[in-house]
Order: sequence, then C-alpha cells, then structure tokens
Amino acid sequence: RKKVTISTLRLMYKKGEPITMITAHDFPSGHVGDAAGMDMVLVGDSLAMVALGMEDTSEVLLEEMLLHCRSVSRAAKTAFTVGDLPMGSYEISPEQALQSAIRVVKEGRVQSIKLEGGREMASTIRKITTAGIPVLGHVGLTPQRQNALGGFRVQGKTSAGAMSVLEDALAVQEAGCFAVVLEAVPQEVASLITQELSIPTIGIGAGNGCSGQVLVQVDMTGHFPPGRFLPKFVKKYGDVWSEAHKAISTYRDEVKSRAYPAPEHTYPINKEELEAFSR
Ligand code: KIV
Ligand code: NA
Repeated sequence: RKKVTISTLRLMYKKGEPITMITAHDFPSGHVGDAAGMDMVLVGDSLAMVALGMEDTSEVLLEEMLLHCRSVSRAAKTAFTVGDLPMGSYEISPEQALQSAIRVVKEGRVQSIKLEGGREMASTIRKITTAGIPVLGHVGLTPQRQNALGGFRVQGKTSAGAMSVLEDALAVQEAGCFAVVLEAVPQEVASLITQELSIPTIGIGAGNGCSGQVLVQVDMTGHFPPGRFLPKFVKKYGDVWSEAHKAISTYRDEVKSRAYPAPEHTYPINKEELEAFSR
C-alpha cells in the first residue's frame, strides 16, 4: 500500500468507502495499527490516560505529545498521521495555535493536527490550514472541556443541541478542516450531519452513518486491566492485557521454579575452554 494522503482520504469519501482510524501512542502501537491497514493513525491526547497514567487529558503537555508523535510517525509507513493539540497549546490565539501546530508537524513529524471545538475555533483553524497544515476538527463531546460540559456527556440529544453540533461541524468545514471527528452524538444526528457536510465525518460513539470510525487502541484491543470502565460505544475486539498478564505470570513462575531459562535459551562454551576457566 502507498502512503495515505489527503487525496486518498478524499477519494475514499467520494466513493463512500468508510475511513478507518485508530489511536496510537508509541512505536509498537503505531506499527500494529499501520500493519493492520488503518487509513489514519491518531496520536490522541487520550495517551495522557492510556500511556502516561494521568487522570485526564488536561495534564499532558505539548512537549510530551511531541515525543509520542515522533515515535508513532516512525511506525506509520502507510497510515495518514494526525497529532492532537493538547489543552493549553491553542486556545489563547490563532497565533499560539499555529505555533503549536507547526511544532507538532515539524518536531512530531505527523502529517496533520487535530483540535477540539466548533464555531469559536473557526479563525484558529483557518490560520493553521492557511499555513498549509491539514486540520482534523473535533466536535460533539470534546473531552478537553469536560469540566465545562459537566463530564463526559452525550451531545446533541435535544433538537437545539443537535443544531449546535451541526453548526459547529459546518463552521470547522468552512474554516478548512479536511474531516471532522463527531464524538458521542446520537446516531441519527451524526448521520444527518454527515449528509449535510461535504467533508468526511469520523465517528466515535456516533453510530454507523458517519464517513469513518475511530477508536482508542487500548480500549478496542483490551489492553487494560479487568474492571476498567469502558464507554458504551467501545467494542472490545481483543484481550491484550490478559495475554500479557498470562505471559508475565508464567515467566515469573518459571523463574521461581528454575524452569526458565532452559538449555535452549543459553550459550554454549566448549569443554576445554570451560575446564581451563574453572581450574
Ligand atoms: O485523544 C483521542 O484519543 C481522541 C479520539 C478519541 C478521537 O481524540
Ligand atoms: Na483527543
């Protein structure tokens, strides 16, 4: 497969072919997403929780995002790469946002950036796209604003709410976004918004009427300890945590019992050398 570009995504959208996106936060997670044929790989600020153990995304710094973006970019041979602008790196002014976006592309080595927000971010998005950096919008539930939204709540559940999400989506399209993430929006609303727009919608918790889908990799691969809360929209396709846990606890048992390392895991030395050495 050839490297996915903006034009590839545009073509998929025109043909009605669903666009696939997964998050990644380091070289291995980027590599497996790329190898599995994802069209897009997103270095989401959700890495704050899934890779850095932070409470929420508001804690992660631009500097930290850059390191993770670089690692994922090295792994993404075909997937189109997107890096999130973290909270605090773009809200102050369009100039601040452009500066951060340039760093994410120049130092993070990704092909595009994503930022959260609708109408109020239009001039910021315009500033960045005008500089030649593709922007992925993100409307509906915007986790960086969870304190203002009163938590992780479904957006667009009333007609006024749905109209507000539509207006946000139209505004980011108008400002030059090449696509927009719709998060936690009722399926019918997301489908209608998708029909209204002329850019692809990438849904998460937004039903199957969007132009594409995105999931957080550790959620969908089951790479987290049992008992962790998962949002309703996540489908757990694997059980990576249990696999890793099984492997490590077997290793532990085998070291304790001296079953590991076995002879086949060791390096030989010839007899004369050994005799000379042990004298
Ligand atoms: O940070 C993230 O992982 C995201 C996706 C869930 C869209 O923004
Ligand atoms: Na994010």
